[in-house]
Amino acid sequence: MGLIDLHCHILPGVDDGSKDMEMSLRLARVAVEQGISHIVVTPHHMDGTYTNHKKDVIKKTQDFQNELDKHQIPLTVFPGQEVHLTGELMQAIDDDDILFLDADNRYLLLELPHSGIPEYTENMIFDLLSRGITPVIAHPERNHGFQKDPDKLYDFIEQGCLSQLTSSSLLGIFGEKVEKLTQKIATADLGFIIASDAHNFEGRRFLMKEAFGRIDKDLGMDAVQRFENNAKSIVNGEDVNTDSIKKVSDVKTKKKRRFLFF
Ligand SMILES: [Fe+2]
Repeated sequence: MGLIDLHCHILPGVDDGSKDMEMSLRLARVAVEQGISHIVVTPHHMDGTYTNHKKDVIKKTQDFQNELDKHQIPLTVFPGQEVHLTGELMQAIDDDDILFLDADNRYLLLELPHSGIPEYTENMIFDLLSRGITPVIAHPERNHGFQKDPDKLYDFIEQGCLSQLTSSSLLGIFGEKVEKLTQKIATADLGFIIASDAHNFEGRRFLMKEAFGRIDKDLGMDAVQRFENNAKSIVNGEDVNTDSIKKVSDVKTKKKRRFLFF
């Protein structure tokens, strides 16, 4: 089995990711080249712009799988959603309109607004956890609230959440600030999976092979394996170990050596 990508906008024509089936098939070929064997497709849902109902995502994922098989692309896709934090989330769960990262409805890929962490986040997370649902916070490194106070992420993980780091964040695609924060979160064991959040061929690409290369260089092969195993555990609805979490403010990351030439 290859890599599992748990956050990806490869489903054709549903959000700001892949435009059509042709582009999705091209993206799928890149994913396979990257060593990815399984993808949970996670179109945006309830983010104020996109609504992608559960039954539609299931149908479109099946259609996409059929095309992948027809083109003999060795990739397995599962239906999912990137669910935006909204006051309507609980109702949507009751209405059976939410897709999880696993078949047992345990892990929910949760997107917070980029601008910050709303006041009601903690209460909503509490409600989700009370129902046996574990929110997996999508790319905390890109959220202004966590950027300002990264220890807030520790509090959410301690409360019972997990988090997902994005490969391109780690590689500096979103700038040095986001790159450094991603490194720190990974070093503090507060990032549990690395996913692509791939949308296209330009800005947000897969870069999973490259990100795992960086993790190997910075944190070693054990960390690589931990990330890979966590992705497997999540997709299987199994436990993920959070015992080694540390506060970001308590960890030190490797400093780049600078040479000055006069
Ligand atoms: Fe996304």
